Amino acid sequence: MTKLPEVPEVVVLDFGGQTAHLIARRFRDLGHYARLVPGDAPVKSWRRAVTKAVVLSGSQHSVYDADAPRPDAALHELELPVLGICYGAQYLNTHFGGTVGSSTTREFGPARVQLHQRHRYLEGLPQSFVSWMSHGDTIQQLAPQAREVASSANGLPAIIDFGDRHTVGLQFHPEVTHSEHGTAILANFAAAAGLDGGWDMSRYLTGLREQLRELVGTRSVLQLVSGGVDSAVSAALLLDALDADQVHLMYIDTGLMRSGETETVVELLQALGGRHVHVIDASQQFLSALSGVEDPERKRKIIGDAFIRVQQEAIADNLPDGYLLAQGTLYTDMVESGHGANRRGDTIKTHHNVGSPLVRQKREAGELVEPLSQLYKDEVRQLGRALGLSDTQLRRHPFPGPGLAVRVLGEVTAQRCDILRAADRLFIEALHQAELYDKIWQAFAVLLPVRSVGVTGDQRSYGDVLALRAITSEDGMTADVFEFPTGFLRELSATICNTVPAISRVVYDYSGKPPATIEWE
Ligand code: XMP
Repeated sequence: MTKLPEVPEVVVLDFGGQTAHLIARRFRDLGHYARLVPGDAPVKSWRRAVTKAVVLSGSQHSVYDADAPRPDAALHELELPVLGICYGAQYLNTHFGGTVGSSTTREFGPARVQLHQRHRYLEGLPQSFVSWMSHGDTIQQLAPQAREVASSANGLPAIIDFGDRHTVGLQFHPEVTHSEHGTAILANFAAAAGLDGGWDMSRYLTGLREQLRELVGTRSVLQLVSGGVDSAVSAALLLDALDADQVHLMYIDTGLMRSGETETVVELLQALGGRHVHVIDASQQFLSALSGVEDPERKRKIIGDAFIRVQQEAIADNLPDGYLLAQGTLYTDMVESGHGANRRGDTIKTHHNVGSPLVRQKREAGELVEPLSQLYKDEVRQLGRALGLSDTQLRRHPFPGPGLAVRVLGEVTAQRCDILRAADRLFIEALHQAELYDKIWQAFAVLLPVRSVGVTGDQRSYGDVLALRAITSEDGMTADVFEFPTGFLRELSATICNTVPAISRVVYDYSGKPPATIEWE
């Protein structure tokens, strides 16, 4: 899906800097729609009528690199407010006739900035504040028309006006939370551009609905539903925008799902008005393919292959030719995979959503619809709320594609999955009861391939060991152990051992990521 709702926007030219997408994030938090565009995209490819301001991001390049990305020169004929950040500021300085060079003075991390002049982008700021810098090159000779509005403690230019009071460069990163007053600068810039702060989810939803209708026409659309937040919101959106007869929702029960998962998903899809809800019970296929397999990587591969096979069969049985595939891909998936913002192959990670064979095939055929691809995770939750999904649905913890297979360590059997399901359910229920669920990013139980001696009544028992894991995180890339209130784990451990007789011992995983990963396999 390439067309976007027609709301006024800030175009953020992405030159590849690691914090480029945070710039768009900050504007959206301020109520202004902002969008990353490849740094060198021609101006005529932007949505000119709604572009109100342009930001040039940072970059790993030096402006003098032979392959340094540059904006379309037509940018300077638009007479729009322009804000260059770090590399963006250096590019502007060279464009207007100044010079940039590598500096012997290092400016990485917190750096104090001293204002010398007033500027409309800096209203309400103190004379001096701490910014966050990260640059090897520095502006050496200012462009002839430029004025140094502020300098760093090292006497280097920190804020430069390029002579028209519209075009400003910052040698620091206002988008990073460590920069004091960074958000205020972006807010002043947006106000100067005449943005009205009117970007909100209901307005976006109105536009999205119309575009989905136009794009899909009378064709059928398939959404694969996993039980997670993104596919649920995408399904709700399709049912909201299109005729329910066009929308096919498919859920594959791998036998590796949590307790009550299948029932909950089916209930949700029916409550949303789904008419073609295909629930594929493939548990036998998955479990027999996993029989006797202990190696974690082999398990993942077997599950991935089985998914593709089951999916293909179910699609052939239920969908007409030429159907569209809808995907709950998020903005961060697009940016991280290098699809959203021409990252010249500097792909950070290839997300599994973006790269599966079915998705690739549908993308090539122009039959892929990604209605959430301009939204961040919390915006997807807002959209879900606007579509009537419950907070319980929208705040669910992430769950890995391979499901319980990576949480039953060693061989996966139906019986061991049942033991884990029962224990995991008790854990999650206890978290809800203690109102801890929303304070935790992800929590789950893991069944270890270890047996341990216990004592029940006068009997000696020899049972399974269960590990509990609860972590806090921003994005799953790093994680911290969650500290439970005193007594919570002791009580829960007793409940689990008493309710699930196969388990004789419960341990708590006290490892952060790094060095451990979140899942055990
Ligand atoms: P790790 O274990 O890599 O997990 O620290 C980070 C996050 O990713 C989830 N995860 C997966 N999600 N397919 C998925 O869809 C997978 O194969 C997979 N492996 C891990 C994990 O639950 C955590 O949220």
